[in-house]
This record gives sequence, structure tokens and C-alpha cells, in this order.
Amino acid sequence: MNPLSWSLVFVHTCGAILAASAQTTASVTIPKTLPKTNSSIGFLDTRFLGLSIETSSTVDFGGEPGNVNKFTTQCMSGLSKTTGLGLRLRIGGSTENRFTYHPNQTTAIISTWGSNPDQPSHIDIGPGFWTSMNQLGGGRIILGLSDEGTNPQEQATVAVAALSAVKNVEQIEVGNEIQGHYPNVSAFVQDMHSFYNNITVALKAAGKSKLKASGWNGTTVFEAGDMCCDKTFFAAGLIAAGINNVTGDYRIGSISAHDYAGSACSGSIPIPLSKLMSHTNTVSRTTSRNTGDIAAAQAAKIPWAQGETNSISCQGAAGTSDTFAAAVWTLDDALLLSTRGAARVNFHAGTNYRYAPWQPILINTTAPYVRPNYAAMLAFQEAIGASGKASIAELPVAGNNLLAAYAVYESNVPARVVLINTNMYNTSSSAAPASAFTSFSLTLPSGVTHATGKRLTAPGADALVGSWAGHTYHADCSPVNLADVIETYKPSNGKVAVSVRNSEAVVVSFK
Ligand SMILES: *[C@@H]1O[C@H](CO)[C@@H](O)[C@H](O)[C@H]1NC(C)=O
Ligand SMILES: *[C@@H]1O[C@H](CO)[C@@H](O)[C@H](O)[C@H]1NC(C)=O
Ligand SMILES: *[C@@H]1O[C@H](CO)[C@@H](O)[C@H](O)[C@H]1NC(C)=O
Ligand SMILES: *[C@@H]1O[C@H](CO)[C@@H](O)[C@H](O)[C@H]1NC(C)=O
Ligand SMILES: *[C@@H]1O[C@H](CO)[C@@H](O)[C@H](O)[C@H]1NC(C)=O
Ligand SMILES: *[C@@H]1O[C@H](CO)[C@@H](O)[C@H](O)[C@H]1NC(C)=O
Ligand SMILES: *[C@@H]1O[C@H](CO)[C@@H](O)[C@H](O)[C@H]1NC(C)=O
Ligand SMILES: *[C@@H]1O[C@H](CO)[C@@H](O)[C@H](O)[C@H]1NC(C)=O
Repeated sequence: MNPLSWSLVFVHTCGAILAASAQTTASVTIPKTLPKTNSSIGFLDTRFLGLSIETSSTVDFGGEPGNVNKFTTQCMSGLSKTTGLGLRLRIGGSTENRFTYHPNQTTAIISTWGSNPDQPSHIDIGPGFWTSMNQLGGGRIILGLSDEGTNPQEQATVAVAALSAVKNVEQIEVGNEIQGHYPNVSAFVQDMHSFYNNITVALKAAGKSKLKASGWNGTTVFEAGDMCCDKTFFAAGLIAAGINNVTGDYRIGSISAHDYAGSACSGSIPIPLSKLMSHTNTVSRTTSRNTGDIAAAQAAKIPWAQGETNSISCQGAAGTSDTFAAAVWTLDDALLLSTRGAARVNFHAGTNYRYAPWQPILINTTAPYVRPNYAAMLAFQEAIGASGKASIAELPVAGNNLLAAYAVYESNVPARVVLINTNMYNTSSSAAPASAFTSFSLTLPSGVTHATGKRLTAPGADALVGSWAGHTYHADCSPVNLADVIETYKPSNGKVAVSVRNSEAVVVSFK
């Protein structure tokens, strides 16, 4: 069976089971107005969901200068279909610390490989590199410049070259996860101000200080932080050490934190799919990780960004990051962050990284393809919508803490709800028994008379494909051009029932 007909059969199977009675039920009441959330930044940015592209993978994703990577173009345009906006891309990661720019280099990138098969140990880039970066099609760019082995003056020269060529640069970040290079956060903050100031002075002298997309006049904007592993370098610590005490002609546009749900670093064993997907685990991890930091950033009025994240650190793990469980996690994690005061999330990707939403080029004999988390990103874009007036709140679900419900309000009016069932369901159980489904009973706010839905599904949490709105994503991102399969639910006595299988999610829209 080809993947497309598989997913259509699957949706019909779901429909049939909806009638069965052995499923468990869960009640969710949708308040008429937005419940209190931790967001203090007004409406969510329509570009809340973005990607982070590994510096050394820029040419693989974007294509050689003049030869756009059409696979990437299609996947990027799919992610813009619902919101109408080009994604925000952060260009960075470990190789952000390991590049040298040569104005006279004729090839876009020369990679030198060491012991890590996932990343070059060093890259030399030429002006064509900036062209490839433009070919990624980002609507906003956060440009990572290196810190390691360079001095501020060298970085200033690179910044001038980059800002002369790269479109839509919104912010600059200096260094990736470089906390280990400093004895303490004060020393780091002091050094950053020296970098920021030098870069700003050079950009001004070259007439490039007006970052095109920032909306901030005449000042350069920096994303600070980009830390992963030492909480003293997180937002609260950075602010206490004076990251926002700026004396030069620049601003701190955001503070970025990096975080992964699990790790494959130095032989770590990736967490089981059931734990990766578990809503309980996602909530407790996100809460303990960010306690105090998002609040500190909000108090200082600096947007807090989950500037680099994904399922499993150190480039992901096959059998975990490329499964549908990781897709369910992606949707849940992005929605949860949107309720906790984050300004945005950037999911990291590299050429052969197991968690990248798509592999952009042929690797050995494997053609470019799409991973299940891409379908989850489409579901998130459906949830946030195009209005620019979305706010999201998590709603309590009675009965089961592996179930999650998020309500999306537009201008304080309930517009959509996302229902996620993070219980484990494997492909090996070929036909879903009724007991694998939960019937969410939604108590609708008055005035809602129509409810329709689109489903994020797969044969199971361990499947290596994902399906969104009736279409399977694996071979490429072209299904995004097909008409979505829409389910209709009949309200009765102010309620609707929506059946969601274990390891599945549904985005319900109201009218
Ligand atoms: C706000 O954040 C705190 C700590 O991160 C969390 O315990 C609480 O549930 C959050 N409240 C809402 C409404 O999301
Ligand atoms: C680029 O210029 C540097 C010195 O400015 C020189 O050493 C190098 O050989 C040049 N490379 C090319 C490819 O012309
Ligand atoms: C941070 O490290 C620097 C350099 O070692 C040192 O001079 C300074 O006292 C330290 N500051 C704090 C607050 O520990
Ligand atoms: C770069 O920063 C250092 C340290 O803050 C400062 O001494 C130097 O004057 C700066 N150079 C430029 C060109 O701004
Ligand atoms: C940009 O400049 C204009 C005119 O000087 C000013 O009114 C506006 O407040 C400035 N915006 C920001 C974000 O600084
Ligand atoms: C930063 O500025 C604030 C407000 O002016 C001040 O209270 C704080 O002491 C300063 N922090 C540092 C490390 O200079
Ligand atoms: C490509 O082949 C090489 C050599 O067999 C292997 O080490 C590497 O893991 C392969 N890469 C991928 C992404 O499969
Ligand atoms: C199926 O799910 C169970 C947990 O419910 C898990 O222990 C098992 O490893 C899974 N099997 C596969 C093939 O994923």
C-alpha cells in the first residue's frame, strides 16, 4: 500500500472506531475567554515556531549558490502555508564556533572533517555562503557568529560582510554554548558586551547597523545567551550579571536557552519513546529547566527564546528522533512553551541529524526525505494560525495526565483547541482497539456551533512516518499542496466528542 492510501484508510478506521463505546472519556471545558497564562508578551508571534539550521549545513539545506535546493523550498513553503509568513531561522550550533570567513574564497564552503561524522571540525566559507543562506528562504534570520578562537575585530569584519549580503537579518548571536570558556557568568557578560560593542561600531562605520528586519532603528540587536548546560549562565544569571546594561549603540533583543528532551551524547542511551512523548515528563522537564529564567526575562522585558532544541541532543538518535513519538513531543513541547512565556522555539536541524524535519540532500544511497516531526510542525502552524492575535493556554483534562489540551484564542475568542494523547501506541498492534482511544468531551463556549478537525497520526509511536490532515509526509513535502482531510464533529447540548487514539493529536477549529 502506498503511504497516501495507507493514511486515508487509517483516517477512515479512526472514524469507524469513533462509534465504539469501549474508549475512555476525558472532559475538557473551554472557557469563553483566555485563562491566565504565563505569557506577558501580548499576542504570540506568528513566527513562534522556527528552525535552527546548523551553520555547516547551510549550503546543504539552501543549495549551492544559484542552485536552490528545491526539496527545502517545498518544505519551507509548507511551513508557511497556514501562517503566510516565512519562518524565523537561527543559523548556528556547534559549527558556529568553528568557521573562518575568506572574502576571496570562490566556493561557498570547504568542510574539514575530524572524528565526528555528523559535523565538520572546521569550515571555511566564502561570500557564496551568504547566497546559500538567502536560498533557505527564511523570513527572519538570527545569524550566529563565532566566538571561539577569534577576536571581536575579526567578528566585526564577518558581521559587515554577512549583513551586506544576507537578507532579513533580525539579530546576531555570538558563540554557541560557550559557557565553558568562562570562569563565571560575569566574565562572560563582560566579554559579550565587548563583542557586541565592537561589532556595532564596525557595522555603523560600514553603514550596516540598521538590521533590516528588526524594526529597531539604527541599533544592532543581539540575541544573548545560547547556553545549554550551566544554569548560572541562563537568563536570570545573565540579567543579574548585567547583560541588559548596555552602554553602546545596540540592544539585547532576546535571551536564548538551549534544551533537548533527552541525550545521545557520549554514549548516553536515548530515553524510551514512551518517556519522550509523555506529557507529564514534558511538563516536569520544561518546568524544572526554566524555573526562574523565563520569569526573570519577562521582568526585564527581554523576550525569552528556546533558541535551540529538539528531541535528543548530539544530533539525535535513530529509532527515537525520527519516530512519530518525537512528532507528538514536538507538538506538545512547542505548545507548552507557548503557554509558559516563551517568545518562540527554534527546532534544530543539520544535514544528517536524526531529528531534522527533513534530510535535504542525498546521503550515501538515501535520497532526501521527510521525518515525522515535520507533520507536527504543520499541526502547530495550523494551531497558531495567521491572525497575529493568538494566545494559547493549557486547559486541565480530567482523568489522565498523559492527555493534554491547549486552547488557542484569537483576540480573546476561542478559535481552536489542540488535543494530544501521549499514551503509548505501537505499530505492532495492527488494528487499533477501541480501548486505545480517548473520547475528549469538549464543553464548548456559548456561540460555538461548528467544530471541525485535522488529525496528526501514524500507525504508531514507533512509525518512521507522520500524517497530517490525511496526508503522509515521508518522500517529500508535496502533500502540503493537496486538500486537507477535514473531520466534522456535531455539537450536541453544548458539547462535542472528539476521539483521539493513543499517540495521536487533533487540532479542532471552532466557528
Ligand atoms: C506558569 O509557570 C509555572 C512555572 O513554570 C508553572 O508551574 C505554572 O503551571 C504555569 N502556569 C500556567 C498557567 O501555565
Ligand atoms: C585569499 O587571500 C589570502 C590572503 O589575503 C591568501 O593567503 C589566499 O591564498 C587567498 N586565497 C585564494 C583562494 O585566492
Ligand atoms: C569571575 O571571574 C573573574 C575572572 O576569573 C574574577 O576576576 C571575578 O572575581 C569572578 N567574579 C565573580 C562574581 O565570581
Ligand atoms: C573592541 O573592544 C575592545 C575591548 O572592549 C576595545 O578596547 C576596542 O577599542 C574595541 N575596538 C573597536 C574597534 O571598537
Ligand atoms: C524608530 O525611530 C522613530 C523615529 O525616530 C521613533 O519614533 C521610534 O520610536 C523608533 N523605534 C524604536 C523601536 O526605537
Ligand atoms: C544593571 O543595571 C541595573 C539597573 O540600572 C542595576 O541595578 C544593576 O546593578 C546593574 N548590574 C550590573 C551587573 O551592572
Ligand atoms: C554513510 O556511509 C558511511 C560509510 O559507510 C557511514 O559511516 C555513514 O554512517 C553513512 N551515513 C548515513 C547518514 O547513513
Ligand atoms: C511498544 O510499547 C511498549 C510500551 O507500551 C514498549 O515497552 C515497547 O517497547 C513498544 N514496542 C515497540 C516495537 O515500540
